[in-house]
Amino acid sequence: MKTKINQEFKTRFGSEGTLYASAGRINLIGEHTDYNGGFVFPGAIDKVIMAELKPNGTDKVRVFSIDISEYAEFGLNEADAPSQSWARYIFGVCREIIKRGGKVHGFDAVFAGNVPLGAGLSSSAALESCFAFALNDMFNDNSIDKFELAKIGQSTEHNYCGVNCGIMDQFASVFGKAGHLMRLDCRSLEHEYYPFNPEGYKLVLLDSKVKHELKDSPYNKRRQSCERVAARLGIETLRDATMEDLDKIKSDITAEDYMRARYVIGEKDRVLAVCDALVKGDYETVGKKMYETHEGLSKDYEVSCEELDYLNDIAKECGVTGSRIMGGGFGGCTINLVKDDLYDNFVATAKKKFNEKYGHEPVVIDVVISDGAHKCE
Ligand code: GLA
Repeated sequence: MKTKINQEFKTRFGSEGTLYASAGRINLIGEHTDYNGGFVFPGAIDKVIMAELKPNGTDKVRVFSIDISEYAEFGLNEADAPSQSWARYIFGVCREIIKRGGKVHGFDAVFAGNVPLGAGLSSSAALESCFAFALNDMFNDNSIDKFELAKIGQSTEHNYCGVNCGIMDQFASVFGKAGHLMRLDCRSLEHEYYPFNPEGYKLVLLDSKVKHELKDSPYNKRRQSCERVAARLGIETLRDATMEDLDKIKSDITAEDYMRARYVIGEKDRVLAVCDALVKGDYETVGKKMYETHEGLSKDYEVSCEELDYLNDIAKECGVTGSRIMGGGFGGCTINLVKDDLYDNFVATAKKKFNEKYGHEPVVIDVVISDGAHKCE
């Protein structure tokens, strides 16, 4: 990827810039809890967005995306927003830095990536944090702290891309550390790294290839449901709600809002249970909680789809320890915790059965837990 980017940069801009990269993420458990002030358990992965950048002495950004073979050029004022959706992520990052009093001048950039798009692995967070990290290094002497870099990515989604997301993806992408997952408290942003090396197990993702696109998806509606219930309970977020609290107001809220909140409250407890289990090396409990999360995401939160439910059923039939839909939902992939000796059979069975039903195989994505945003040597 490096060579391709270097060559393209040289051809287009006639010189050499500096290379930066940032990662997509997985999340072991804690889905749709981030914007509810709860806990999540993500880690950065070895699938990255890599970009070469160089200041160009003008007030324009000139950027080329190798993967979709498109070029965009834009200024740095609010009115200069580019029309291409991929370029809006970069424009948004520039604007959010400027809004916070940081500096951004014109620059040239070429980027490429291997984070599968629409699979729920946060390719957009990888893109945002790669550019946020790079612009902090290039124009701001790294004076913007990492928490703010993550928030710059999140605000980009809110203000320029139409997704009212939580902080998980950008946080994982900026703070990721090789070999470690993070337990992140999304309210205080306190986080703790957990070494993750489940001996005797593999973590594998199966991409259903059902395209996941959070913009204009009911993702924002899920968030609104949670906010309505929290407001009715007189609390800031569902982080502070219990099932008893929820049951007390059941008759005052819609059945749908009740189901959404029931999922979130359950998920909050599951993340904490998984943390305890991980410390004890109790992967059976981790797996059991993953299945419970899937059930909740599918039945109460209703962000699964037929294909992902089917992959989850196959995992159960094959004796896979834990399996669930991962990320925002509405497509994308399942994350599976599989015993080493069941791995081959599971993958082969999933491919065969899924193909028989849907006419294509799910894509197997092996991931290694890796570092987040960085400058490449
Ligand atoms: C998307 C959002 C995150 C989070 C997840 C669901 O990835 O970007 O903030 O809400 O969905 O856990």
